[in-house]
Amino acid sequence: MYSHLNGKHIILGITGGIAAYKSAILTRLLIKAGAEVQIVMTPSAREFITPVTLSALTGKPVISEFFTANTGQWHSHVDLGLWADAMVIAPATACTIGKMANGVADNMLVTTYLSSKSQVFVAPAMDLDMMAHPSTTANLAKLRSYGNIIIEPAEGELASHLVGKGRMEEPENIVAELDSYFGKIASRGSLVGKKVMITAGPTREKIDPVRYISNYSTGKMGFAIADELATRGADVTVISGPVEVTPDNPSVKVIDVESGREMAEQCAKLFRTCDIAVMCAAVADYTVASPADTKIKREGNNPPEIRLVKNPDIARALGEAKRDDQLLVGFALETDNETVNALDKMARKNLDMIVLNSLRDKGAGFATDTNKVTVFMRGTDKPVSFPLKTKREVASDLVDMIAKISL
Ligand code: PMT
Repeated sequence: MYSHLNGKHIILGITGGIAAYKSAILTRLLIKAGAEVQIVMTPSAREFITPVTLSALTGKPVISEFFTANTGQWHSHVDLGLWADAMVIAPATACTIGKMANGVADNMLVTTYLSSKSQVFVAPAMDLDMMAHPSTTANLAKLRSYGNIIIEPAEGELASHLVGKGRMEEPENIVAELDSYFGKIASRGSLVGKKVMITAGPTREKIDPVRYISNYSTGKMGFAIADELATRGADVTVISGPVEVTPDNPSVKVIDVESGREMAEQCAKLFRTCDIAVMCAAVADYTVASPADTKIKREGNNPPEIRLVKNPDIARALGEAKRDDQLLVGFALETDNETVNALDKMARKNLDMIVLNSLRDKGAGFATDTNKVTVFMRGTDKPVSFPLKTKREVASDLVDMIAKISL
């Protein structure tokens, strides 16, 4: 019946209210739908329902403290937050809602909430007066402004049950809401019908027929993104500087270029017909003003002076030409002042999203098979930071985000 919950990782946060007994039913329904459920309880929730009942249902120990009392094992709220595809707090008391709204991280549940990268659903449960209090109303408004989804019984339903506002939504309806959320995500994940161009690799700026200026980019990051986009059904073309890597996905088309100017020309041609452009190439910012036609000789006393001129800023040109129905994603490779520089590039180049990688992070940036990125989206001031992952995994995270905003 619930087709989109299969295999999903759900954190079910339970707080201390009478409705806590309903969370056992909610747990059972989620498990039945194929989800993996990790229960996180506040200490007071244990007064209403025992962890034994819940762990018997989930097959996992319930977490309610930062440390397991007998072993001293540390529960990482950060890892939990990353593991989850969604977090549901049901029932959510006025107290926990207040703590969530104001960042009062004095228990495992609120700490996990603050670390969560996934969608959070909140099912309030309290008496009518508490629910109507301006403090609760203001706290719920704050949660909504953080992007949390508040699940409440519909007005008509309340009337028919002859009970007041504040009653926790029925577990069946909570599961239906989650299932529909994942259904929407699944359809968003598909990029069938989307035309995407990606720049990848370095550029080479000729000094003479045997020498050039370039950088350490291998194309690994750009090609990983290309493969991931193609796997989701997109029609993908990579405009690539000289690299060794090739796409794994046979449907990915590659246009080989050498210099920044050549890359700019190809990008300008392709961009008009694209829905999405991802600028992952490390384009040389400068090129040689007058490359020599013949090999510059070593003879003579003075080493040659090579005059550089600016290369076209490809991302910026696309940002200027961008239509409302196009999405432009840039990268920022930094060594210092990372956030300031990335935000400045996003604004200057009119990007919708910028992926920051810093050479100060070990294993990030050029040449490695791993990367550590922070993503800034236009219109939101909360960046999303990912831990060090393989470039393939990074590509999957980035394409998830691209898919979400490109539809
Ligand atoms: O290829 P790998 O070895 O896997 O390494 C991946 C990578 C480190 C190259 C990649 O993750 C990355 O960060 N790419 C962007 C590198 C870069 O040149 O960043 P930048 O901060 O200088 O440029 C900002 C943005 O403008 C980038 O999207 C860049 O592609 C674009 N740009 C820059 C200069 C220029 N003349 N034209 C551009 O389009």
